[in-house]
Amino acid sequence: MGAPLFLEPRLEPPLRELLDDPDHLHGLVDALGSPLHLLLPDVVAANVAAFRAVYRRHRLGGRICFAHKANGSSALVRRLAATEAGLDAASVNELSHALGSGFAPERVLATGPKDPAFLWLAARAGATVHVDAPAELADLVRLVRAEGLPRARVLLRLSAFASDGGVHLLARRSRFGTPVGAVGELLDLVEREADAVELLGVAYHLDTTDLNEKALALESCVRVLDEARRRGLAPRVVDIGGGFGTSYLADGAQWERYTTELTQAVLGRRPPLTWRGHGYGLRNEGGTARGRLSLYPAHRPVAGPGYLDALLSTPAPTLGRTLADLLLEHLHDLWIEPGRALVDQAGLSLARVVDVRATEDGAHLVRLAMTAADVSLEEHGVLTDPLLLPRAGHGNANSDANGNGDGAGAAVGVYLVGELCLEADLVTRRLVFLPRLPDRGDLVAFANTAGYCMDFRAHHAQLRPGARRVAVGRRDDGTRWWSLDEQYWPTTR
Ligand SMILES: Cc1ncc(COP(=O)(O)O)c(C=O)c1O
Repeated sequence: MGAPLFLEPRLEPPLRELLDDPDHLHGLVDALGSPLHLLLPDVVAANVAAFRAVYRRHRLGGRICFAHKANGSSALVRRLAATEAGLDAASVNELSHALGSGFAPERVLATGPKDPAFLWLAARAGATVHVDAPAELADLVRLVRAEGLPRARVLLRLSAFASDGGVHLLARRSRFGTPVGAVGELLDLVEREADAVELLGVAYHLDTTDLNEKALALESCVRVLDEARRRGLAPRVVDIGGGFGTSYLADGAQWERYTTELTQAVLGRRPPLTWRGHGYGLRNEGGTARGRLSLYPAHRPVAGPGYLDALLSTPAPTLGRTLADLLLEHLHDLWIEPGRALVDQAGLSLARVVDVRATEDGAHLVRLAMTAADVSLEEHGVLTDPLLLPRAGHGNANSDANGNGDGAGAAVGVYLVGELCLEADLVTRRLVFLPRLPDRGDLVAFANTAGYCMDFRAHHAQLRPGARRVAVGRRDDGTRWWSLDEQYWPTTR
């Protein structure tokens, strides 16, 4: 099987302390069933404050809007409502949820392509509308007029930013937004329909970690706002979307080693690391590794608020000064829509071990009371080690809260599998190393799952009920409280 390879999760104190209390976690799963998602609402509030500190450092103002799509929890949204944060809603249900959780409409952004119901509620409530395309703007204008609504505040979502001047730096194509080259049509419409819509500014969201692409997009947005001001409009917001990222792993060297060894395994130069040779995007073509690793960069030296800081400190590609200075000079507000980064360290998923059996090649299958979709780390390409939390009396897992144990020699390689009657229901497609073989009734914990991994892929196949969610925290006197997610309000303690 080869030497064990670890990918220890990065654990900050609140999450680490929770994992250091296995009796509490076992008690929750005994009461509420497996799988179970735990949410830490106070961590989200702290994450908002960390982003705000970056704004202050650069003397910038503007809104920090949680991208709701990252997690459907009520507790997180209600806790955020009690902070200064805004919210990015990408569906009519997310919008209703935000409004019903205490977000005043002016704190809510309606993003993404909109169906008529979503557009209607956004316009009727007075949320800011991210306009995805000229046709959507025309629909909004008609709606405002037909219903006699106040002017709708809009941000124009742009895409396909390209540098000029011969340097071939092209941002990736996107299905969303209007290509920046066609922004004239949108500005014409906004000017013509000024009695129905107010141009607040422009926006983008790029699915990349590349600072240069983002710098190019941001600078292009400032130029578009210059053009809008020349036309007599008065926009003041640049919304740079989400994508600040999270660092999931404690140790960059483990990540480097893992990806190197994975390539070796794909090439057949070491024992397999994955179920039936799964290559995470890599394949062996005549002794050469081809393809692209389809994994989230799980160790990121710069992520979350640090990534925003780095972006704002980046020089604008053609205008020279830093992006922060560029925004400051123009008196623009900076809006952001972090999803994953705002729920960093704010969640944990638990599942009970129901069966353990050996495979013919010396590994073990550990069946969990969950499906792969209940914790879609694999689907999102996020590889971190689960932690084993033995039931009291099941022996010591020999493990600290990193799950790495003090006896790497004793570690066993297992595949975690789900309960669906599908060969493909693998909670991990890779061999994960646990400090010892689990027993039935032990818990396996997946740390830091609040960003997309709890509910983005969840389904009800085989009539399975969805995983329950509970909000957890500590009172000032150190005692723990918990509440069903739907029953949590910021007054809960
Ligand atoms: C428009 C928009 N804003 C924000 C986000 C959040 O991105 P992230 O979770 O990477 O911060 C997304 C993600 O898809 C998005 O589409």
